[in-house]
Amino acid sequence: MAIKPVLRMGHPLLRQVAAPVDRFNTPELMSLLEDMFDTMAHLDGAGLAAPQIGVSLRVVIFGVKHNPRYPDAGEVPLTVLINPIITPLTDELEEDWEGCLSVPGLRGRVPRYTAIRYQGKDEHGNTIDRTVSGFHARVVQHECDHLDGVLYPMRIRDFNSFGFSQELGINTPDD
Ligand code: NI
Repeated sequence: MAIKPVLRMGHPLLRQVAAPVDRFNTPELMSLLEDMFDTMAHLDGAGLAAPQIGVSLRVVIFGVKHNPRYPDAGEVPLTVLINPIITPLTDELEEDWEGCLSVPGLRGRVPRYTAIRYQGKDEHGNTIDRTVSGFHARVVQHECDHLDGVLYPMRIRDFNSFGFSQELGINTPDD
């Protein structure tokens, strides 16, 4: 197990389209996931994508336990999602604050679909197929964007609501 350095915005690997995983249950995949969980826990993140630790594969993890500091955030089950496919279930976009471990110290308001279906595999190759909304849907869209080289600042429409969290006076978890 190892805590890995998280690449920051500007690193070319974060702009790449990551490759699909074609073999499950391998020692390499398990070791990657262990590093991802260690790194996410160490940094208290809500999610992490493999490219953020320098591995350009379509693997994300996420999960949020109920936290009284963020009462609106809701609970998201701890999930390994590989080769994800996202299908929006509405045209409705909602803006809310996001942060990212690859964009430390900053927050911005990002439009996301309010309801999505996501499908993919877990680390054993089992199918995941969920319909979610709200914060859960937001976290999944944020993490999966990383697999296509997209960081949340690229989606911001109003740069009046983008800045350093300390200056903005907001306190939401980095993800
Ligand atoms: Ni992120």
